Amino acid sequence: MNKIDNSVIEIDLDNCTKCNACVNDCVYHLFYTESEELQITKNFEEQCILCGHCVAVCPVDVIKLKIHKDTPIRKIFKTEEIPNYDSLYKLALKRRSVRQFTTELVSKQLIEKLLELARYSPTGNNTENVFYTVVQNKQIVTSISNYITMKVKRFVESMDDPKGREFLKTRLSTVEFDLALENLPKNKAILKVIDDGIDYWCWDGELIFIHGDITIGGISSNTALAAAHIMFAAETLGLGTCSLGYLTYYTNQSETIKKWINLPENHEVGYSLVIGYPKVKYKRIPSREQIRVQWL
Ligand SMILES: Cc1cc2nc3c(=O)[nH]c(=O)nc-3n(C[C@H](O)[C@H](O)[C@H](O)COP(=O)(O)O)c2cc1C
Ligand code: SF4
Ligand code: SF4
Repeated sequence: MNKIDNSVIEIDLDNCTKCNACVNDCVYHLFYTESEELQITKNFEEQCILCGHCVAVCPVDVIKLKIHKDTPIRKIFKTEEIPNYDSLYKLALKRRSVRQFTTELVSKQLIEKLLELARYSPTGNNTENVFYTVVQNKQIVTSISNYITMKVKRFVESMDDPKGREFLKTRLSTVEFDLALENLPKNKAILKVIDDGIDYWCWDGELIFIHGDITIGGISSNTALAAAHIMFAAETLGLGTCSLGYLTYYTNQSETIKKWINLPENHEVGYSLVIGYPKVKYKRIPSREQIRVQWL
């Protein structure tokens, strides 16, 4: 067989129709033709980001990437098989942040379905630097919430104490200190809610931490996109979710929480979600700001 074969890609040149679709679509222009024969650039193996566009665009299926061998390459879906704008619009409008859950646990299979959808969310430069930690153990959830409460209580007490406040002023940047001062009444109100028995940080549900290797970068955008996929998928399966910005923040600050969730070395949490069966039913869709856009 006349073929291109290296550590990344294999192309069956005998059956290549020379349509040039891969040449035109590769983001790094790693294909070219010479004497009407398909060629790859010298630096192909270093530059290919394994995005699979060449595989996806080739009409005769002669390009194989040597990654993800366990995933068969599927044909693209027909237009009528995918949700239309109206159904997607309704899904987006129906989704609410859910903060009240029943005690029913979400099965591992269902959570796997959500992650399967998020697996196909885009990542910058196709780094696929997205990892998940699912916490189904409610004891761990409670420990995390109690730990954050303890930290916030201590912080509020220090901010309330003149000496403590002076000390924090020397420790925090001006921006951080001003923000802490501004947030003091809010934090006190949160502590009051917690005193009343509410799990303000995790809403007493199951948790999905979405994290990535800090040496690779793009964590916040990639994890947020994965989270968006999960949130929409959850909605279609009768599950509720809520983003947990506080949890993300406090987890990244705390070696204790990182240890409890077995966060891999060098990883940072980019996004956290709580998930569960909603105990609340929303009857209406709240209004939102008009689209703020400038057209140039
Ligand atoms: C990045 C981000 C962080 C958030 N963090 C929290 C959080 O820590 N706790 C919480 O209860 N809700 C959190 N939310 C939910 C927002 O409050 C909620 O999305 C917003 O009020 C709009 O409500 P909706 O999601 O029902 O449309 C967060 C949302 C986003 C996008
Ligand atoms: S996988 Fe992506 S980057 Fe690599 S050759 Fe194909 S299109 Fe180009
Ligand atoms: S897309 Fe497929 S058929 Fe077309 S030039 Fe590339 S390898 Fe050949």
